[in-house]
Amino acid sequence: MAEKWVLMVTAQTPTNIAVIKYWGKRDENLILPINDSISVTLDPQHLCTTTSVAVSPTFTHDRMWLNGKEISLSGGRYQNCLRELRARASDVEDEEKGIKITKKDWEKLHLHIASYNNFPTAAGLASSAAGFACLVFSLAKLMNVKEDHSKLSAIARQGSGSACRSLYGGFVKWIMGKEENGSDSIAVQLADEKHWDDLVIIIAVVSSRQKETSSTSGMRETVETSMLIEHRAKEVVPRRIIQMEKAIKDLDFPSFARLTCSDSNQFHAVCLDTSPPIFYMNDTSHRIISCVEKWNRFEGTPQVAYTFDAGPNAVLIARNRKAAALLLQRLLFYFPPQSDTDLNSYVIGDKSILQDAGVHNMKDIEALDSPPEIKDSTPMQKYKGDVSYFICTRPGRGPVLLTDETKALLNAETGLPK
Ligand code: DP6
Repeated sequence: MAEKWVLMVTAQTPTNIAVIKYWGKRDENLILPINDSISVTLDPQHLCTTTSVAVSPTFTHDRMWLNGKEISLSGGRYQNCLRELRARASDVEDEEKGIKITKKDWEKLHLHIASYNNFPTAAGLASSAAGFACLVFSLAKLMNVKEDHSKLSAIARQGSGSACRSLYGGFVKWIMGKEENGSDSIAVQLADEKHWDDLVIIIAVVSSRQKETSSTSGMRETVETSMLIEHRAKEVVPRRIIQMEKAIKDLDFPSFARLTCSDSNQFHAVCLDTSPPIFYMNDTSHRIISCVEKWNRFEGTPQVAYTFDAGPNAVLIARNRKAAALLLQRLLFYFPPQSDTDLNSYVIGDKSILQDAGVHNMKDIEALDSPPEIKDSTPMQKYKGDVSYFICTRPGRGPVLLTDETKALLNAETGLPK
């Protein structure tokens, strides 16, 4: 048989934002954390990774392309994921194409992987989480790995810790586990994306000039030098996990918001307690926190929760559409776009929030009134250009296979990037 065939699978996987943070490992190679964490999966329509994986007897070695550029697969994290998947591969048969791959063949066959993020990688929006989750999910489908999503999450975890939480939609818990081999360090779904339908998420992509410390080295330095981290992992997080699970189950926004904000602030506090200290938030991040805190206090009950990962971007979770529209008015009031910016590219994602906020053009932004909670305080300042853009989104679904061939990133005949 002239073995010229190419077998391909394409999948789409969301990114996620932690509301109880993962920070610190007890095993660097297996990526085992020092505490449980909880995240919200973001709608893949606005933020996701698409990955096509292909196998063919004509491929000479494993290759990967990220956003169109070939990257090396020699890193330990990629190698660990590929090894774990190959060990679990099963027979695959495609009668139509006359393809038969046995379990043993997978050890010798080579793979092509092409991955694309629908958001700028440079924006620092957890691209590795969606990326590794998508790599593992799509390869598991291609290789007929007969394991459930939790087992797959333990493989994605070895690519990047936070990636394990992207195997599910809605609200997800990463259980730290106890086993030395990491077999019980897995993600489980707490509730699906329909459970808390009201929530609206606005991400402020904050302009920043400096290159941040990577999560991997940042958390290593924290574990090595911070005295606070142990207290956080042993005393604080276990209690917060229980409270957060209950808040999500009961759709209790005030508790959800208080826990989310406190946990983000404590994560940044342990970064500051690291030697040398790590600063992920900048002045703009701090101003966004103040804006939300003032408004929440003024209303008497939280309208919005904020959370920040290893960078200055703010992820703001509003209790409902009405609160999201009022939040967007405030954000546009304090952080108006540069005069040469087009509103259409300044607020992206679910633009209906912009309509709800009554903002249709630049004039509407200029006409925004100062929020009532700061009416009497002087002087009032605006920070034009300090936010690059806003993304309006919501909690979303987990990974899916894409059957539409036009969505594939690899050519079905050659297995090379399109
Ligand atoms: C601040 O998952 O990027 O976003 O496991 O070393 O790849 P590695 O780190 P990564 O860390 C994410 C840290 C965080 C908090 C979180 O997502 O829980």
